[in-house]
Amino acid sequence: LPRDLFGAERRNAPGLAFGDGAALRRLTGSVAAAAGSADATPLIDGTVQAGQARPVLSPIDGTALGSVTEADEAIAARAMDAAARGFPAWAATPADARAACLERAAEAFLREQPRLLHLLQAEAGKTLDDAVAEWREAIDFLRYYAVQGRRLFAEPQSLPGPAGEANSLRLSGRGVFAAVSPWNFPLAIFTGQVAAALMAGNAVVAKPAPQTPLVADLALRLLHGAGVPGSALHLVPGGPETGAALIGHAALSGVVFTGSTATAQAINRALAARDGAILPLIAETGGINAMIVDATALPEQVADDVVVSAFRSAGQRCSALRLLLVQEDVADRMIAAVAGAARELTVGDPGDLATDLGPVIDASAKRRLDAHIAAMARSARTHVSGADPGGLYVAPHIFEIGGVSDLRQEVFGPILHVVRYPASGLTAVIEAIRAGGYGLTLGIHSRIDETAERIADALPHGNVYVNRNMIGAVVGSQPFGGTGLSGTGPKAGGPHYLARFATERTLTVNT
Ligand code: SER
Repeated sequence: LPRDLFGAERRNAPGLAFGDGAALRRLTGSVAAAAGSADATPLIDGTVQAGQARPVLSPIDGTALGSVTEADEAIAARAMDAAARGFPAWAATPADARAACLERAAEAFLREQPRLLHLLQAEAGKTLDDAVAEWREAIDFLRYYAVQGRRLFAEPQSLPGPAGEANSLRLSGRGVFAAVSPWNFPLAIFTGQVAAALMAGNAVVAKPAPQTPLVADLALRLLHGAGVPGSALHLVPGGPETGAALIGHAALSGVVFTGSTATAQAINRALAARDGAILPLIAETGGINAMIVDATALPEQVADDVVVSAFRSAGQRCSALRLLLVQEDVADRMIAAVAGAARELTVGDPGDLATDLGPVIDASAKRRLDAHIAAMARSARTHVSGADPGGLYVAPHIFEIGGVSDLRQEVFGPILHVVRYPASGLTAVIEAIRAGGYGLTLGIHSRIDETAERIADALPHGNVYVNRNMIGAVVGSQPFGGTGLSGTGPKAGGPHYLARFATERTLTVNT
């Protein structure tokens, strides 16, 4: 088995061989058979809380998939109180037993593959390969944090000191964590946040995104079924008011958040405005992710990697490529190769295996993206455009803009912006990217090692990819998270993540 940084043996979850027709038919058949109404409800101490339900609609075609009951402020407050009561017993549960719960949950996720994939497709509009990749990532998070957590939390670690002095370091849970997760990875990020906080010995109140509560509800029930006590893990579906009620609650000990930069900043302000203890925020946000392509890059490889990075998942990944910087000597050739590959993409029902881009998540995303396309069509040079496919679908677009600073906002969809830079302009490009303040993913295509190293060293991005695509970070191999406007730095699926959810205390005894 491969070994992680600290020597633990672990293997990532198996994928699906899409070339194996029989296996693919078995899978699509089992996913279709798993379709059925689903509900999400607030769950406190394992008990469903009553409230006003609303339908959850599929972005694919508006079909009602089931209903969600959102937690109002009173329910959110009760969940926080319950988590505070549940914390001591969970914190006192041996790390090995906590890890075993996560490992049993991983087994349950494997067993429940059809239902989880069905919800990822129906509720989040994912293609089958995106859904499978996300399901695998969720399982990897569960197992990775279990393995890491056993090592970190099992025993106090002894530390050196002079003769006559015994030193040790102990990590333990902080208390109640609020876990606020996004709709674009409604299973993997939801599960990763919850699993990390639980493994570190915290009680958790989880608030999934309002667009995707159903898959989160199922994941949470699988965690409970795997032995995580209802008193340690509570669910509060809801929107910004529900989130604000968690962040303002007296029992809060920490927040783990993935979503927009603006929301992370708002959480930061709310935490700063509280009286009392100073609380940590673990935030992973977005970015105006750039890829720099110099004159030595291979056009066919660039075309493949750009199209995957910019358009896979309909561009709805925080890692997705937004800004392609191409050295001007080769720009016409590179842009033509990229545009040609982009025009081959199929937009449509993600249930169809031939589909490359499913829908965007909801009507407000569609409106924002359409408005951006209209503005770009007026002000930029259009390389790829397509008729509006209708519904919540957005065709891939490529626009050429004058400079890096012309794109100020993350555009969360299948829209790529291209900028040409002169051979002498690499330093200016690097400075312009740095000045933007984001630091999530960065792509580099160059066959000159010194150029790639120079760019990677000069920029603060959390995940840098050279001569490949820049999405799809793998647990344990590409721990994921950014710096600056892109987040507070902790890397999900990395060896230092769990410690961020814990307090560290030393004990020094004069022997
Ligand atoms: N972790 C995901 C990726 O790397 C998030 O966007 O693509």
